[in-house]
Amino acid sequence: MDNAPIGVLDSGLGGLTVWKELRRAMPAESLVYFGDGKNCPYGPKPAEEVIGYVDEAVRFLLDRRAKLIVVACNAATAAAIDHLRATYDVPFVGMEPAVKPAAMTTRSGVVGILATRNTLNGHLFRESVARYGDRVRILSAVGEGFVEIVEANEEDTPGAEMAVRRAIEPMLAAGADRIVLGCTHYPFLAPVMRQVIGDLDVELVDPAPAVERRVAHLLAEHGLEAEAGHRAEYAFFTAADEAYRRKLEAKSRQALTMI
Ligand code: DGL
Repeated sequence: MDNAPIGVLDSGLGGLTVWKELRRAMPAESLVYFGDGKNCPYGPKPAEEVIGYVDEAVRFLLDRRAKLIVVACNAATAAAIDHLRATYDVPFVGMEPAVKPAAMTTRSGVVGILATRNTLNGHLFRESVARYGDRVRILSAVGEGFVEIVEANEEDTPGAEMAVRRAIEPMLAAGADRIVLGCTHYPFLAPVMRQVIGDLDVELVDPAPAVERRVAHLLAEHGLEAEAGHRAEYAFFTAADEAYRRKLEAKSRQALTMI
C-alpha cells in the first residue's frame, strides 16, 4: 500500500487525456502531472534533446515521491523509454500507437495511424508495422499542426477543421475504418475528427484506457496501490510559467468532460 502519487508527464497538455482516464478509474490515487510547456512540441525534435527534457521531468516527479511514472507522450516514449528504464528503479508505463487493437478489429483491412514525426520514426512503431503490416494496410500520417492547435486551445476553429481534414481525408478515401490517435494531444481533436468523419463507419482508437489498465496491473503487482478511500490530490507542474500551469489546470477540467 502506498499513498504516494502516480507521476504523469507530457510535453504539454496532451497527457491530460491519459490523466483523466487515471483519475476516473482510480479515485484513490493522487496524481502529479508535469506538462513541460517550455520545450513543446517534442515530436519534431532530435531524440537526444527529448531524452534530456524527459529525464528532467522524471527527476522532478521522483522528487515529488512519484511511485510509478506514466510517460503520457508517444514521442517521449519513442525517444526516452529505454533510457528511463535503464536509469531509474521506479516502474514506467509508456505509450505507443495502438496498432495492434486497430489491426485486430478492422473490417476494411485499412488502418490509419496519426502521430508525430518522432513516433512514426521510432523503433517501437516500426516494429508494430512490421508485425501487423502484412495482415492490414497501414497508412500513417503526421497530424501537422495538431499539437500547436491543442496547446493554443484552438480545437474549435476553422483552422483546426482544415488541419484535421488534411490529415484524415486521405485515410478515409483509402477506406480506413480505424484511425489510431498516436499522440496524446490528438484526442482533444476527436470532436472535430468525428465531424469530418460524418456518418462513415470509422472508429477512433485512443490508447488511454489500455494505459490505465496497465497502470492498475503494475500497481497491484508491486503492491503500490493507494489505501481504499484515500483522499486523492491532483497537482500540476510545468517547466514554463505560472500562466501555463493555470492553463494545465483549466485543460484538465476540459479533459474530464471528454467522452
Ligand atoms: N503528446 C505527445 C505525444 O503523445 C506529443 C506532442 C509533442 O510533439 O510534443 O506524442
